[in-house]
Amino acid sequence: MLDTLTQQPPDALLALIKLYNDDPRADKIDLGVGVYRTGEGETPVFGAIKAAERKLVEEQDSKAYLGPEGDMGFVHALMPYIFGSDPTMGGRIDGMQTPGGTGAVRLAVALAKRSGAVRMLMGAPSWPNHAQIMNDLELPMQGFTHATPEGKADMDALRDALKNASDGDAVLLHGCCHNPTGIDYTPEEWDEIAALLAETGVLPVLDLAYQGLGVGMNEDAYGVRKVLSAVPEALIAYSCDKNFGLYRDRVGAVYVLAEKSEQMGPILSNGHALARANWSMPPDHGAAAVRLVLRDPQLAEMWQDELDTMRERMRQVRAKLAGAGQTGSLDLRPLGSQNGLFAMLALTSEQILKLREDHAIYMAGSGRINVAGLTSGNIDKFIAALADVTA
Ligand code: LMR
Repeated sequence: MLDTLTQQPPDALLALIKLYNDDPRADKIDLGVGVYRTGEGETPVFGAIKAAERKLVEEQDSKAYLGPEGDMGFVHALMPYIFGSDPTMGGRIDGMQTPGGTGAVRLAVALAKRSGAVRMLMGAPSWPNHAQIMNDLELPMQGFTHATPEGKADMDALRDALKNASDGDAVLLHGCCHNPTGIDYTPEEWDEIAALLAETGVLPVLDLAYQGLGVGMNEDAYGVRKVLSAVPEALIAYSCDKNFGLYRDRVGAVYVLAEKSEQMGPILSNGHALARANWSMPPDHGAAAVRLVLRDPQLAEMWQDELDTMRERMRQVRAKLAGAGQTGSLDLRPLGSQNGLFAMLALTSEQILKLREDHAIYMAGSGRINVAGLTSGNIDKFIAALADVTA
């Protein structure tokens, strides 16, 4: 039977990691997968996480199973950071741990489908794995344009998509730091989106994978909080992989907003059943470390300082890119007001290949760059290379 399977292409983004690692050129630049890097090009473990891990080694007295919901101390400790001062909205919000943000999106979409969702409205472009997850779960997608050529959110397209939605439609929205464009909705736009969602009854599935990497922890949660205050039901996929630097530990959570608190038990029991049939239980270590950080005021402050430093560095890189203005045929100015790790450059596949072959610069085939891959040591080379390939 197995020889009926045909060769599948590797995930393009993950394949880029290997291509980059295999390149012997000393001045190569990795702008591929979304991993934060310091000004020295490193991705260190957060100091707060290291301290929590030490505590964990001392304090953890068992590694026996927890259950499909994972570490609920972790799930609850995060809630005030995501949902604000009334984190459960009177028992209407609760959640469960998942393996990373991908596990959270997968579970959120599977829950939506189990509840009767028949189609997912999705901005384009989006994180490529979103479409892979919808395809794998056999949930049809309906696209709408996410951004205008001027680098703003395309509100007309979103408005039309929501107004033309049918029964059983859900919509996937990026909470902040849009992947791949970096183009987020403004607070005023979120206000309108929340009202539209309430009016149309489209189920929001909010992917919040980069909280704290855009404008700030509270600011980056504006859209999620606004939507949740307006609609009866929503699903939120959360990732700690970036804002706690826990990438390979796979730390995420899915949260549910239920119309009534008494519906929470049945809804989450479906989440538990889906988890059990997929991964059974999420990995414990990273989530336990996050719980220890958030429950210790000193470690929590240390973590927030580290996150502030990351965000500030990305702001500086963006300011420098924007300052380069018109570079060949590219206008880099909009990058200064966009958020998070990513930006999209309007490059052709030939230009992207030339950047790789002639300049050892690696970026996604879509033209997405990870701005955190740029440092004071390589940004001038990058800007010059852009000018070269777009001249
Ligand atoms: C990215 O988009 O680079 C990250 O979200 C990592 C991933 O899993 O794709």
